[in-house]
Amino acid sequence: MFTIREAKLADLNTLKTLEQCVIEAERPFNNSIKAVGAHYYDLVDLITQDRSVVMVGESEGKIVATGYIQIRASKPSLDHDEHGYLGFMFVDPEFRGQGINKIILNSLINWGNAKGISDFYLDVYAENASAISAYEKAGFSSSIIEMKLNTSD
Ligand SMILES: CC(C)(COP(=O)(O)OP(=O)(O)OC[C@H]1O[C@@H](n2cnc3c(N)ncnc32)[C@H](O)[C@@H]1OP(=O)(O)O)[C@@H](O)C(=O)NCCC(=O)NCCS
Repeated sequence: MFTIREAKLADLNTLKTLEQCVIEAERPFNNSIKAVGAHYYDLVDLITQDRSVVMVGESEGKIVATGYIQIRASKPSLDHDEHGYLGFMFVDPEFRGQGINKIILNSLINWGNAKGISDFYLDVYAENASAISAYEKAGFSSSIIEMKLNTSD
């Protein structure tokens, strides 16, 4: 049976391992990711602060899916003062393709809605086709494109 719940500090070691899985999944899309010692998230902060939550999906007591939302201040030019920023989207390879990420996303969006948030953003590599497909199925559409240039070579 698949269930979801808020992560707690006792999950920290598992979540740190899964953070590395996300980094390895994204490494093919960005050759600037550090070869060793790369980290993405301040997990203690995300778990303990009032303005964020980490959701985990469990199957038979094992964490097989993750995601977080953090309420952030929006740009002054926008018609919303705050938005929900989503990240740490991960589903165990054995559980992919079953719409589990959508369950995590919906729980995070519901959490944001309950806090008065109705605008949600996330970043995804343009080449990460399965992630983009998952987000589109949850209602997201593409917005900004980041462009980069390296002049050191
Ligand atoms: C991105 C991710 C969270 C999506 O989770 P999910 O629960 O598998 O999402 P979905 O079930 O909606 O499947 C999304 C797409 O994955 C692909 N997919 C389907 N089955 C798959 C499988 N067994 N293995 C890998 N990818 C699969 C398909 O392209 C699918 O899209 P489609 O249904 O339109 O064909 C998951 O693929 C993942 O953890 N990837 C590695 C980490 C990562 O890249 N995170 C995103 C950072 S922005």
